[in-house]
Amino acid sequence: MGKVIVFGSLNMDVIVQSDRRPAAGETILGATVSLLPGGKGSNQAIAAARLGAKTEMLGVVGDDAFGGELRAVLKRSGVNNSGVRIQRGMSTGVALIQVAGGDNAITGASGANGAFKAAEVRRAPRRGEVWVGQFETPVAATEALLRKARATGATTILNLAPMVPHPPRLLKFVDIAVLNEIELAQATGARITARSPERTIAAACRKLGARIVIATLGGRGLVMAGPDWVLSLPAFKAKVVDTTGAGDCFVGALAARLSAGVSLSDAARYATAAASCSVERLGAAPAMPTPREVAARLSRA
Ligand code: RIB
Repeated sequence: MGKVIVFGSLNMDVIVQSDRRPAAGETILGATVSLLPGGKGSNQAIAAARLGAKTEMLGVVGDDAFGGELRAVLKRSGVNNSGVRIQRGMSTGVALIQVAGGDNAITGASGANGAFKAAEVRRAPRRGEVWVGQFETPVAATEALLRKARATGATTILNLAPMVPHPPRLLKFVDIAVLNEIELAQATGARITARSPERTIAAACRKLGARIVIATLGGRGLVMAGPDWVLSLPAFKAKVVDTTGAGDCFVGALAARLSAGVSLSDAARYATAAASCSVERLGAAPAMPTPREVAARLSRA
């Protein structure tokens, strides 16, 4: 079995749950607040580890209480955190997440995530590993690590979330790109929604420039496209509490299954089932499912 190496963000999530989100200038009462571990990178690492993959995390936290807590959460979740550096004088990343009606809106304050540099990563990629990045840490570092990992024969996965300006050449170092319909529209200029026909979404996927592109489409499932093939998979039924981190769960689960040598289509189906489990609990990292939960979901299909 190979290893999963996730490089990217760690955040403390401030989750505010209310019946609805306030309009600009409006105050509403009756909300509840939770402080829970998050950050797309850390969520993906925790998902992969919880699903049985040997996992390492590379990233940066500040020298504050949140940073210590996030490193400890990784360790408790079975993720090797020795590649998570503590940056003196900086705050740990924080995300304000407003949850209403099961849906969420996220505002991030990058903090120490912005200090992540490829040159400070001592861990070298090895053939057979799965390296996973996102766009919550500097793009230059993401590009450099993807390039190095790919050159060594590792499998590279990039979750283009949130969409940020990036050089198109970066996609050449990506084996599998994962993004939702909003990010796919932003990246390619294609006019698509989660309901667009399969061929329209596949065309947008091919425009992106990675070898394989997976468009995650929420309750519809996914469309996955390679140079001359396309595959759609339906979502699993779920009792939605909070969709925060569902995409991260998908990416972490996909990486875990690929590192175990499973085929791409089987890994994607497994990851779809895992993501459907994650939306049934509040928060991102704490909602990542166990292998038993995913197996139960798959057997119900
Ligand atoms: O994808 C969900 C994550 O995005 C949250 O945990 C939050 O920290 C933001 O990074």
